[in-house]
Amino acid sequence: MIVSVAIEKGGTGKSQTAVNLSCALVKFHKLKVLVVDLDPQGTASLGFGISPLSTDTNTIYDVLSGRVDPQDAVYSYNDSDLCIMPSNHELAIYGSNEFTTELDNLLSPMSNIFDFIFIDLPPTLGNFTMTSLCLSDSVLIPVNASSSVCIVALLSQLRTIKTTVEAVNSKLSVLGILACMVNNTRICSEVLSWLEDEYPNLLFETKIRQNIKLAESLGLGEPIFDYAPDSYGALDYKNVAGEIMRRVT
Ligand SMILES: Nc1ncnc2c1ncn2[C@@H]1O[C@H](COP(=O)(O)OP(=O)(O)OP(=O)(O)O)[C@@H](O)[C@H]1O
Ligand SMILES: [Mg+2]
Repeated sequence: MIVSVAIEKGGTGKSQTAVNLSCALVKFHKLKVLVVDLDPQGTASLGFGISPLSTDTNTIYDVLSGRVDPQDAVYSYNDSDLCIMPSNHELAIYGSNEFTTELDNLLSPMSNIFDFIFIDLPPTLGNFTMTSLCLSDSVLIPVNASSSVCIVALLSQLRTIKTTVEAVNSKLSVLGILACMVNNTRICSEVLSWLEDEYPNLLFETKIRQNIKLAESLGLGEPIFDYAPDSYGALDYKNVAGEIMRRVT
């Protein structure tokens, strides 16, 4: 299953979710999972310890431009069934180039190997997000529940998905809405109750609480299950992985 991790808003927990949810699905459900970093920022790559500044790593840009075969840009994390196809700033060229066929050629063989492919996307509604939505089975939408602006971004994202379904990809569905950065503020409880009222079936029961260990782990290049396995960040991502398994099986 190919899942776009998308919302048209920056800093909502997309990369954090791509990294740690994938890790939880491999660790607790024995799946094979690939994270495709389709963001020139390379944050998901960084989350697995692969610097976007590295010059000796094959990236998704090398694959899309035909310089290397897809399997040569797939890196296993700690020799596990969790793999990452990294990205760096070079990918930015595809922000304006049409690359649907190239991305399809990359994803098709991978979807025979991996149970899940999570595509980590940039915050803008541009070529990367649209191309990814055209080729995905579903969308996972992480919202920053501690910001009321997330409601506009969510509504906009759902509208984009509806247009994509009607125009180009009728199989696309919403895997779920994941409330991230949840804290004890009044705005957060208002956002959560709005989400519960409006999207009771799409909203995951598990909420990803604000947790400094999560913020530390992403920058240090270690998924939360290695960096702080007893943190509540780890517990939250373990629980959301369980919910995803119940939704897809
Ligand atoms: N639950 C959380 N608790 C604390 N910090 C978090 C949490 N989730 C994410 N962060 C931190 O917030 C920042 C933004 O998270 P992340 O990079 O995952 O967002 P994003 O949606 O991918 O951003 P962008 O739109 O720029 O790609 C990062 O520094 C990350 O470590
Ligand atoms: Mg990101």
